[in-house]
Amino acid sequence: MKGIILAGGAGSRLFPLTLVASKQLQPVYDKPMVYYPLTTLIENGIREICLISTPQDIPRFQQLLGDGHRWGLRIDYREQPKPEGIAQAFLVAESFIGSDPVTLILGDNIFYGGDVFHKAFKDFASGAVIFGYRVHDPSRYGVVEFDGQGKAVSIEEKPTAPKSCYAVPGLYLFDNEVVSIAKALKPSPRGELEITDVNMEYLRRGTLRVFPLSRGFAWLDAGTSTSLHEASAYVQTVEKRSGMKIGCPEEAAFRQGFLTLVGLQTEVARLPRCEYRDYLEEVLAEAQRAG
Ligand code: DAU
Repeated sequence: MKGIILAGGAGSRLFPLTLVASKQLQPVYDKPMVYYPLTTLIENGIREICLISTPQDIPRFQQLLGDGHRWGLRIDYREQPKPEGIAQAFLVAESFIGSDPVTLILGDNIFYGGDVFHKAFKDFASGAVIFGYRVHDPSRYGVVEFDGQGKAVSIEEKPTAPKSCYAVPGLYLFDNEVVSIAKALKPSPRGELEITDVNMEYLRRGTLRVFPLSRGFAWLDAGTSTSLHEASAYVQTVEKRSGMKIGCPEEAAFRQGFLTLVGLQTEVARLPRCEYRDYLEEVLAEAQRAG
């Protein structure tokens, strides 16, 4: 399966922070925001990744992530000149997707905990898989409604009267049909190709599965100043308490076997003295002790 990170948009809700660097390059505690969705993809075995952003911001992402080979990945870049909808990603990245299934993650979504994703990626065969996460303010999101048997019956984008408390987070798994589905979409009243309309089409075809994310799971979106601050505080709290980092692509690539011990050593040696390097040295030392 291939992976897309959607990291464009105007970032207007974060102005003036985003006047010179895009939202997904802003710090979430100790790393750039995009490290978190990138790590989520790596942790789930995705190593061919396409990052979509604006023409102005792509060079900055390239400077940060390169072509990915340092971490055992292949990272391609595609431009989305205007934010014309999340589902436009499948059109922009059509040549990258080719004939493969694809997962899409939003560049401002941060996930932590549990093994629901691992299972979903491991078991994925066809159709679409999305997730449901209980929130107190569902009208800000795509909202999924379930019947008495826990089967999804509707998905609505930012409903004023939500039919449930379950928001659809920004991580989606699709078979290759998604490209033709996206091509057939018409822009919504707000002028966007909606990811919710893609999910609705899979629902109509009877090939959509919705996995609930359990209570212990954390889903944060860092799209406003308040949620950005809260995400930083959350990451700091968990990292300080556990001594483990969230959203560390080098570590995830190493644990996935994308990066060898020697490869990790080389990566660590490239870093200046900083807490991030100290942490990776601990990961290295632990791996060396374990043999
Ligand atoms: O966060 C999950 C929610 O994301 C879902 O529950 C909704 O169904 C989905 O529509 C989306 O809602 P948002 O209002 O959060 O979407 P937003 O327009 O903020 O875009 C999410 C990210 O994707 C943001 O970081 C910018 C990027 N983006 C968005 C659009 C529309 C692009 O790169 N290009 C685009 O065309």
